[in-house]
Amino acid sequence: MSEALHNVAPPGSIEAKDLEHLLHPTTNLKVHHEKGPAVHLEAKGVYLKDNKGKQYIEGMAGLWCTALGYGEEELVRVAAEQMRKLSYSQLFGSKTNEPSVLLAERLKAMMPFDAGRVFFGLSGSDANDTQIKLMWYYNNAIGKPEKKKIISRSRGYHGVTIASGSLTGLPPFHAQFDLPIPGILHTDAPHYYRGAQAGETEEAFAGRLADSLEALIQKEGADTIAAFIAEPIMGAGGVIVPPATYYEKIQALLTKHDIFFIDDEVICGFGRTGNPFGAQTMGITPTTVSVAKAVSSAYLPLSAVIIPEFMYEPFIEQSAQIGTFGHGFTYSGHPVCAAVALRNLELMEERKIFEHAATVGEVFQSRLNGFADHPLVGETRGRGLIGAIELVANKETKAPFDAKQGVGAHCMERCEDNGLIVRSLGDSVAFCPPLIITEDQVHEVFDKFGKSLDETLEWLRHP
Ligand SMILES: Cc1ncc(COP(=O)(O)O)c(C=O)c1O
Repeated sequence: MSEALHNVAPPGSIEAKDLEHLLHPTTNLKVHHEKGPAVHLEAKGVYLKDNKGKQYIEGMAGLWCTALGYGEEELVRVAAEQMRKLSYSQLFGSKTNEPSVLLAERLKAMMPFDAGRVFFGLSGSDANDTQIKLMWYYNNAIGKPEKKKIISRSRGYHGVTIASGSLTGLPPFHAQFDLPIPGILHTDAPHYYRGAQAGETEEAFAGRLADSLEALIQKEGADTIAAFIAEPIMGAGGVIVPPATYYEKIQALLTKHDIFFIDDEVICGFGRTGNPFGAQTMGITPTTVSVAKAVSSAYLPLSAVIIPEFMYEPFIEQSAQIGTFGHGFTYSGHPVCAAVALRNLELMEERKIFEHAATVGEVFQSRLNGFADHPLVGETRGRGLIGAIELVANKETKAPFDAKQGVGAHCMERCEDNGLIVRSLGDSVAFCPPLIITEDQVHEVFDKFGKSLDETLEWLRHP
């Protein structure tokens, strides 16, 4: 192995050490060994530099998470101050700490539903695992031990742990990992462009998906299904914005069958879609909510599950009978993470970040949609400051490229060469910049993208 490594990285370099020591998450490991890693060195605001001195504009907010951008001194100050004061404490066994309590209070007040209790974790995956466990614990507590299955959707992304990875509806996250586990079901992805039949309106497509969900509920039995989980706008599945009336129809169905709605706001939460939460943009009334990523602008890891009071109440007696509420992480309510997340949310309010994101989001969407006529573009889609452009082999027939051609990946590479960070999700190119991005910087993102897209077309015509 080591000889091959020297072809892409000089011995002793950080690249060589990376190739020797790391197991990279969500990476094609063979391509990684052929091409070597990209080393990020430093970042400020919406700009990032690699170790060769090249600057990039950040079109993806890291992994959809650096909402306030990089290098925010106020968050650095708060983290250092909290580390000096109380670098660690816990929430186990009735202990508590001020930052966690104040963060829970603030999160509850922001929620798009009548929130009761906040449980802290560290990642979107653990939040969604917690969601499943709380559904099971609740239904056992209220004497409905059969009501346990969770319905997720194809192309949904909810994490990678055994349970949250099972919720995820993308094949590479299941293959060879022996997922999904029993009890996790998947229904259709609400992608009108790809899923609609000839001549079908958005409403008719949404109706067909609701019928398909109802058929699944009837087949399994509503009494065996605890909850449905959805990202208001799907992120990693390709930034899929569901069609008109979709959530209206789904929500009515869930209410009719007494099935809870778990709203995964891990990407959509905190201003991303032009409103504080994706639920508001898409007209959802959640039963419970998961948040992570922008809640701390990724300065430190933090996630939270927020549940209504009626779910919490039966936990009290059940935990007493068992002897404890037996769920929690060493770092649930880590005071430094909580202090940073709290200040992050305060800064979002003080600087009117949600309003800013909504305003700049209009320019963003208009630039995004401006690519609709490009010969390579099948669909442009998004809301607020999130979007994607799907590249197709044939605009008229919507025929996709052969996946082996790697057209999306090539376009992403062209973007990187041109100093723009985006993410290819198959042949869709995703955009999700930090919420602090200015109008001029939005133009910079799409000017660079336009050049890269033309270069991709040129490469396809003259390979
Ligand atoms: C909607 C959604 N839920 C959950 C997760 C999992 O979060 P994490 O990677 O922090 O475990 C992600 C990650 O991208 C996500 O996009």
